[in-house]
Amino acid sequence: GGTGYLGTHMLVELVKQGYEPLCVDNLHNSNPSVLLAVKEICGKEIPFIKADAGDVAAMRALFAEYQIHFAGHKAVGESVAHPLMYYRNNYDSALTILEMCLKHGSALVFSSSATVYGVPHFLPLTEDHPLSAVNPYGRTKLYIEETIRDVALAHPEFNVSILRYFNPVGAHESGLIGENPNGIPNNLMPFVCQTAAGIRKELQVFGDDYDTPDGTGVRDYIHVTDLISGHIAALKKLETKPGCIIHNLGTGNGTSVLEMVHRFEAVNGVSVPYRIVARRPGDVASCYADPSKAFEELGWKAVKTLDDMVRDSWMWQLKGAKN
Ligand code: WQD
Repeated sequence: GGTGYLGTHMLVELVKQGYEPLCVDNLHNSNPSVLLAVKEICGKEIPFIKADAGDVAAMRALFAEYQIHFAGHKAVGESVAHPLMYYRNNYDSALTILEMCLKHGSALVFSSSATVYGVPHFLPLTEDHPLSAVNPYGRTKLYIEETIRDVALAHPEFNVSILRYFNPVGAHESGLIGENPNGIPNNLMPFVCQTAAGIRKELQVFGDDYDTPDGTGVRDYIHVTDLISGHIAALKKLETKPGCIIHNLGTGNGTSVLEMVHRFEAVNGVSVPYRIVARRPGDVASCYADPSKAFEELGWKAVKTLDDMVRDSWMWQLKGAKN
């Protein structure tokens, strides 16, 4: 998934850290032109191969020392409408990559998601919170995690990091790479950006009757560059051969929809018209991380503020986003 939202930010950081990444993507959800922006930021061409992570022959030909697996569909609503596409793309490709890891004795960093916690029994969420899934997207993440744990038990020599993302937002400070969803955005931040830019008429706020301070949904938004530095910390940890390790990548702070909207308006000096509508099926009221395990074991914590997130998201909308 190297030409995706997280993949492009990972390529920039890997080059900055002295790695020599190879970018592989099937271009199902992205465009190779983003690699021109990556080249402008990191000052060098990144080798690119068009291939599908589920294509065993292609993966055999490409396999490198490390795999960082960003190749996943991630729209909850789309996963409900097209579950087989999600199981084929997300789960099938993970099996291929796991087979390659065992064959080549390679380590893996897997992008999981806070969605595997289902409806929180307690907050903040720790890594030992019970796991469940409430939609096909979340089930693919949960099934891949369970498969990884089974493989790690059977193969103690296999080193793998499972990173549970909370809500990735923001963009590289250059404004040259960022989240570029096709069509109408599912996620809050791109929709807020497009509303502020006049591309969307108004933001629909999905419910204001939750048991939260202002009634709107609370999430743990994390700047994409903090998420990426968490991957670098995990890569370095894998060099110590820890087996299977699992960490939350969140800030530990909960922010409501309206808090996000008002912060976005205040920091960027723009207006985001919105209307309160019915709850979105499948949404939980609140979801935010206890990130202390990642700090203790990986020496990582998020450093970007909410103001950084809304500022960088808007900069990307103005400079780079093609909506
Ligand atoms: C955030 C809040 C909505 C849109 C999902 C996946 C998760 C991760 C991120 C990949 C909620 C509200 C949203 C809108 C709104 N996926 N909202 N109006 O659902 O927390 O997480 O995306 O990395 O695994 O589950 O993110 O941005 O869709 O919603 O009011 O138009 O914003 O109700 O409270 P979510 P989101």
